[in-house]
Amino acid sequence: MLNPISLENQNYPTQKPEELIERVLNATTNKNDLVLDFFAGSGTTCAVAEKLGRKWITCDIGKYSFYTIQKRLLTIQESKSLENPKQKYGKLAKTFVTVNTGIYDLKKMQELNQDKYIEFVLQLFEVTPKKQTKKGFAFHGERKDGYPVIVWDYWNNKESNLDIFFLENLHQTLGKSVSKRVYIIAPANAVDFISDFHELDDVRYYFLKIPYQIIKELHPKDFAKIRQPKSKNKVNDLDNAIGFHFSLQPEVEATFENNKLVIKKFISNFREEETNKYLENFESLSMVVIDNNYNEKDGFIMSDCIFSEDIESVQSTLHIPLQNTGDNICVIFIDIYGNEFKQVIKTK
Ligand SMILES: C[S@@+](CC[C@H](N)C(=O)[O-])C[C@H]1O[C@@H](n2cnc3c(N)ncnc32)[C@H](O)[C@@H]1O
Repeated sequence: MLNPISLENQNYPTQKPEELIERVLNATTNKNDLVLDFFAGSGTTCAVAEKLGRKWITCDIGKYSFYTIQKRLLTIQESKSLENPKQKYGKLAKTFVTVNTGIYDLKKMQELNQDKYIEFVLQLFEVTPKKQTKKGFAFHGERKDGYPVIVWDYWNNKESNLDIFFLENLHQTLGKSVSKRVYIIAPANAVDFISDFHELDDVRYYFLKIPYQIIKELHPKDFAKIRQPKSKNKVNDLDNAIGFHFSLQPEVEATFENNKLVIKKFISNFREEETNKYLENFESLSMVVIDNNYNEKDGFIMSDCIFSEDIESVQSTLHIPLQNTGDNICVIFIDIYGNEFKQVIKTK
């Protein structure tokens, strides 16, 4: 027999029962109406709206909430039916999209002329401008770690994406000798890779993706950063945060060894807002979200979310034991300001 409670439980603090939201929606809406919940949490409202044949829009400021809802909807067929809680709902969710706020500002950015755009994105990722040509290929600058940076010329690539063909072409030109690491800055929607880097012949090509968030530099007002929690019982402490900020990918080194995810390095590329200091290794880690049986076709479905306070530290590395892993895991490392680094890791 199904256990309706465990089928419903998303392990999200403050999660409301589906039965309660079902009552509210039945009392106030009809089929095909549009239901909006600004404070989604675990996504009870949209899950129930989906099951009752309502359209829905939902949002939340927290990353844990985002991945919980994505999973809840992508696996809604496995959750309990509202009519008969002893049975599974059994239907897939209708197609939905996930978006970051501020998508409209990408247009503004694209209207910048080429030089202004390059200047702007170099600043954004803290790159020192330094024009140079390596093996006939134009580079635009250098990051703090000394590795070179290319600004992908999307203005000449309106019809194509930064995909494996582009990378293989680039790699054929540069070869192994130019640098062990190359950064490529490109609009997030133009990057075809789910991972934040792709390796060819021991050279790592990192993608610095420009998100569709409100762009501080293009905005007259300074925003406060939104802090992500380091422990699960703080997931609702986000309510006072307002504003937006730019995504600055953290530096991560992680491997999968003996059924464990071993994190050797997690450094964020920003100063802490209150202290204006750079944070030490692991200090800025908020949580690690994992799909332990990742495949590209199904997309990312969270199986574990481990908050940094619950991660075991072993001889200056962090260890996360994982069970029932498939051939690949996809790991999203998230810092306290919500910046993400995504990596697909082979387990065998
Ligand atoms: C009480 S929980 C909602 C629980 C939800 N009803 C459920 O069943 O899971 C409130 C949610 O509001 C989110 N939140 C707080 N301030 C926010 C803001 N300014 N914008 C969007 N979401 C916010 C929090 O991250 C939290 O997930």
